[in-house]
Amino acid sequence: MKLLVNNIATLAGIDGGGVLKKSGAEMAQFDAIDQAWMLVEDGIITEFDTEKDRPAPAEVDSVVDAHGGMVLPCWCDSHTHIVYAGSREREFVDKINGLSYAEIARRGGGILNSADRLHELPEQQLYEQAMERVREVISKGTGAIEIKSGYGLNTQDELKMLRVIARIQESTPLRVVSTFLGAHAVSRAYVGRQSEYVDLIVDEMLPAVAAEGLANYVDVFCDQGFFTPEETARILEAGAKYGMRGKIHGQELAPSGGVEVAVRHRALSVDHLESMTDEDIALLRDTDTIPTALPGTSFFLNMPFAPARKMIAAGLPMAIASDYNPGSTPSGDMKFVVSLACIKMRLQPAEAFNAATINGAAAMGLSGEYGSIAPGKVANFFITRPISSIDFIPYAYTTPIIDRVFLVGQEQ
Ligand code: NIG
Ligand code: FE
Repeated sequence: MKLLVNNIATLAGIDGGGVLKKSGAEMAQFDAIDQAWMLVEDGIITEFDTEKDRPAPAEVDSVVDAHGGMVLPCWCDSHTHIVYAGSREREFVDKINGLSYAEIARRGGGILNSADRLHELPEQQLYEQAMERVREVISKGTGAIEIKSGYGLNTQDELKMLRVIARIQESTPLRVVSTFLGAHAVSRAYVGRQSEYVDLIVDEMLPAVAAEGLANYVDVFCDQGFFTPEETARILEAGAKYGMRGKIHGQELAPSGGVEVAVRHRALSVDHLESMTDEDIALLRDTDTIPTALPGTSFFLNMPFAPARKMIAAGLPMAIASDYNPGSTPSGDMKFVVSLACIKMRLQPAEAFNAATINGAAAMGLSGEYGSIAPGKVANFFITRPISSIDFIPYAYTTPIIDRVFLVGQEQ
């Protein structure tokens, strides 16, 4: 099955293959060609070039006319919590009234509130609620996504979440990676007995998750008021026995050792970083741990943004992701995340596009197959309406510019 995408004003985010991430100054390079076409065969990108060498429509099975729009690789959203029950707009109002995220958590709201609801909700309904969000993010151009557990907080409910994540992968063309986040918060049943809860994660949850092959990665909310670096290290060591690398929540609420423990245990990524220090940036140099900023969370919680310019100046391969979750950022709109990265973290549009595509793919271990327009990569791309330049995408920060989305070469 050959598909020709024709009449592309600009084909952007291209490379010749073999680029697995972009670091530091390389992030300013988001290569593009004008007046382009692209050939897709059986869901894989095979060729692209400028208009002059275009294959004849008779040589292919179908033709998509981009009508002078731009084509970009789909977003690779490397940090989400989109499997959850219900919503938490009451806490949203509490926050407007002045309560901090940490105060809401201390009052038994926050993550524990979502865990109560998830416990009550049958698996089928949990799947249906998550699928509404999946359809939404696909329509907004996301083609690969990481989804975490972490609203179960007991073995049965964590497995329920992870089974829903597996079902999303089976039932959609979205590429899904799954992360076990039993250490998202101490469950109500274990309040005051945090170390016993960590025992439960290590001795019962992780083996059960591994036995069903339900998670690619393991995550810990390593932060002030949540899990310590020592507990994080213990969980990362336990995960490593099952072949799960870490993807750590660190340095959101305070400089709390999250980066250090992530680097020491060769985590694939360390995410949030709103409170990261210059020492943390130095620690990340020459490691294969990808620092991931979540600008939607800073925006929604009115918190500082991660020091993105400093990370790029230090030569790091920074990714950005949505963190879509019911508490700290109920949005998976990666175009808006790209805008926030430009507006609030002072990224150049090219840097933000790389952070949201190839580096996001790298933060999921997927950049050999996703994250750019390259021969041999999965044909996950979107077509914009005709726009004046690529910088218009983050500039027009609420305009729905993404017109058509293709996953594995199929229009969604
Ligand atoms: O990534 N920081 C920890 N966890 C989520 C929030 C989860 C929630 O509030 O439900 C986050 O922001
Ligand atoms: Fe998160």
